[in-house]
Amino acid sequence: MDTELSSPPLDLADAAPASGKKVYVKTFGCQMNVYDSERMTELIDPLGYSETSDIADADLVILNTCHIREKAVEKVYSDLGRIRQVKDERRAAGKETLVAVAGCVAQAEGAEIARRAPVVDLVVGPQSYQALPELLARAKSTGRSVVETIFPDQDKFAQLPLTRSAKSTTAFLTVQEGCDKFCTFCVVPYTRGMEYSRSVTELTREAEKLAARGVRELTLLGQNVNAYHGEGPDGATWSLAKLLRQLARVEGIERLRYTTSHPRDMTADLIAAHGDLEKLMPFLHLPVQSGADRILAAMNRKHTADDYRRVIRQILAARPDIAISTDFIVGFPGESESEFAQTLDLVDEIGFAQAFTFKYSPRPGTPAAKLGDQVPEDVKSERLNRLLARMERQQLAFTAGLVGRTLPVLFEKAARGAGQLIGRSPYMYPVTVEAHAGLVGEIAPVLIRTSGPNSLGGDLQA
Ligand code: 5AD
Ligand code: SF4
Repeated sequence: MDTELSSPPLDLADAAPASGKKVYVKTFGCQMNVYDSERMTELIDPLGYSETSDIADADLVILNTCHIREKAVEKVYSDLGRIRQVKDERRAAGKETLVAVAGCVAQAEGAEIARRAPVVDLVVGPQSYQALPELLARAKSTGRSVVETIFPDQDKFAQLPLTRSAKSTTAFLTVQEGCDKFCTFCVVPYTRGMEYSRSVTELTREAEKLAARGVRELTLLGQNVNAYHGEGPDGATWSLAKLLRQLARVEGIERLRYTTSHPRDMTADLIAAHGDLEKLMPFLHLPVQSGADRILAAMNRKHTADDYRRVIRQILAARPDIAISTDFIVGFPGESESEFAQTLDLVDEIGFAQAFTFKYSPRPGTPAAKLGDQVPEDVKSERLNRLLARMERQQLAFTAGLVGRTLPVLFEKAARGAGQLIGRSPYMYPVTVEAHAGLVGEIAPVLIRTSGPNSLGGDLQA
């Protein structure tokens, strides 16, 4: 915790910039960071900051960072190198630039960031950004870098503005944060802390605000979203399934999704919701990580490959047309060729519609980083390529299988081609359709005619 915070709060009005100031926000990593970035821009909107996509124009730069793999961290430091040049150029032109590093790198590295990159004025963790206006004021007035990475007792969400800005017909809603699972490769339990679920009342209110702003599709977010156990309006602890049923009743919300889930927390009531909750979209992201039981045990995943198969069978029984997406890590310490082959077998067997594939990246402080028998980089790369090739075939087969079907599409925005809109199918893939701009925000049937690995095209049905 930064000692600067023990001094009395500054008068924010003094430090608030005149309106017309610009903020440039770059978001790395997961959708929870996308949500946090939106909340941060909402927090500083009253200080007169509006968003810019031109960093040279920015009075404030926020990097909202990800610590999950080493590459993501290195990207932050290389960006900070470039930002130093921008700050110098702006200073030469008589303009001030504040630089803030937020997110999981901020949480994990804290003051080390300001030491390694003195260009940084503020380091703020994902549990502390509700104090952003005050922290910026402090950095500005003291001219020293401020580091704030505490896990406060007070509920961060309760301190965020009640209003929500919505730029699209789809929105994220963080319902749960943190993770108690302690997979041995993962930094999340250390950067985002223990599991915490927001209350049903608070979430319903936020969903209503988003719906009033034109949001039709909500994706509920959490590092371990299906472990959600928030306080219900009746004082009892509600499950994710119960929360989904409640949010399905919010007027204007037509579609619900949730991510990311753990196979162990796919409870019977959640599986049942996939069967009978019409607004719950038939697309589920359920990371498996590996197809080999010895590796799953070493990862402390708390499930076997057969447990995963069983869960998928149950979900398919409830919702036969559901598409399954997953995450894989290749080259976990000690992974043999035959264990990797079991992962490939699982790919064929489950027929995933989509997969995010990663080379194992040792993360400081995690148990797996200390294991001997680390897999050489070239072996990881070679395995990753084989897995990618297998998945690409499968993804193409999945989207090709949608050709000829009529799907309800939620129209989101104009496409690049004149007279075309981009919408979202129930299966996530964007669909490009010739349609009138007035359809944005509406759901209409589209006959799918073309498919690529990540996209679809089709004709609007009257
Ligand atoms: N190395 C590689 N991939 C990782 N993931 C999490 N930690 C690591 C790591 N140390 C992947 C997992 C997880 C996804 C969000 O990132 O597959 O599901
Ligand atoms: Fe990380 Fe495992 Fe928790 Fe997912 S379930 S956030 S991989 S520790």
